[in-house]
Amino acid sequence: MNPSLNPLVTSVKESATLAINLKARALRAQGRDIAHFGFGQAAFPVPELLQNAVREHADSNMYLPTQGMIELREAVSRYYREEFSLDYSTEQICVGPGSKELIFQTLYLVEGALLVPAPSWVSYGPQATLRGKEVVPIATSRENSYKLTPDELDRACYSLGQQQKMLILNNPNNPTGAVYTQNEVDALSEICRAYQVIVISDEIYAGIDFTGKTHASIAKSYPEGTIVSGGLSKLFACGGYRLGVMMFPQSLNSLLRAIKAIISETFSCVSAPIQFAGLAAYNEYDKLKPFVERTNDIYKFASLYLWERFIDMGLNCPKPMGAFYLFPDFDNFKFKLRKHGLFTGLSLSKKILDEADVAILPGSDFYFMATHLGARVASVDFDGARVYKAWPERSDNNSHVVDEFFPNLKKGCDQLEGFLGRL
Ligand SMILES: Cc1ncc(COP(=O)(O)O)c(C=O)c1O
Repeated sequence: MNPSLNPLVTSVKESATLAINLKARALRAQGRDIAHFGFGQAAFPVPELLQNAVREHADSNMYLPTQGMIELREAVSRYYREEFSLDYSTEQICVGPGSKELIFQTLYLVEGALLVPAPSWVSYGPQATLRGKEVVPIATSRENSYKLTPDELDRACYSLGQQQKMLILNNPNNPTGAVYTQNEVDALSEICRAYQVIVISDEIYAGIDFTGKTHASIAKSYPEGTIVSGGLSKLFACGGYRLGVMMFPQSLNSLLRAIKAIISETFSCVSAPIQFAGLAAYNEYDKLKPFVERTNDIYKFASLYLWERFIDMGLNCPKPMGAFYLFPDFDNFKFKLRKHGLFTGLSLSKKILDEADVAILPGSDFYFMATHLGARVASVDFDGARVYKAWPERSDNNSHVVDEFFPNLKKGCDQLEGFLGRL
């Protein structure tokens, strides 16, 4: 059979990150020693506290309230108030199967074009396209660590005229590892307020932050127009548990009502045992702090190691300040690459996979033009369980730590350096 499909769906391809993950795995299965810098997921085992909660509630077979069980929303509300100074009542919080789904449902419900800083996470654009939304990338600059500036946002908003606009801002950032300061997001708030932009503040990496500063959120300075999303996936290393949260301001109650309706007509509620894991995570966060601190230390070490190597081998790369990504570019090798017929980020990343056995994602997957020579690198190709267990109290950036805990990061850098040297 050849069913005719929704044309919006046929224009969306498989997510680039998943595709490169499959390819790198397939090559590994064939015996190729691939350094996998392509796929970013939390590197560590699920904390025992959360695992126990799932076990203890394996017999929970009831459908829970569509917004999420009240005890969980109380815990989420308290966690965001205490940890991030963001104040939402239980009524303003929705729980969903991953923040990805909640972002999709929000995009589905709100009219108007979607502004996306370039580079940004791969899935925002396809999600908007599935809904028939116009996606408007806003190019940001390496010099500003690819953080959106008020001027860039102002120009993009102006160009869209009177229509309703949405913006997705991700902090800490995938794919760059950048972290906004509160002053920087405050400055963006003024533009958002002037154009009445509806902002989704994707804060899924909140807490994976090497700056030592309080988490910055545009919801603090532009509460009336901001929806905040987060969840268990990154900080608590629970991507596969599929639990995300979204918080709506009272000024967007009509949207909250609509999202409750759409949840009730689609996924109904998040699986009950997983909601209990969420309850444990947010309610007993104090017990998880040592886990968060140690994993932050490890993410920081891995990201800074890659950053130093990239700078040494002649790549441009803003210093990563959070999450587990870096966004180097190969601009300094542009002319040499051209001599080898490599004009696009995609052909370059394919060549690097084929010849250097290193998987990276091309900048064109992150809303840049095909010729952009940026690439996203994830810094989590290491054995998280082993590193977590044996992580030294004080880890100087010395070769012993790298050799012992991060052999794939080292090998990937050595191979990339060799590749660039042969150009
Ligand atoms: C920037 C960003 N936002 C949202 C998500 C979705 O997270 P989840 O659906 O697991 O909550 C991810 C996951 O990779 C991400 O990188």
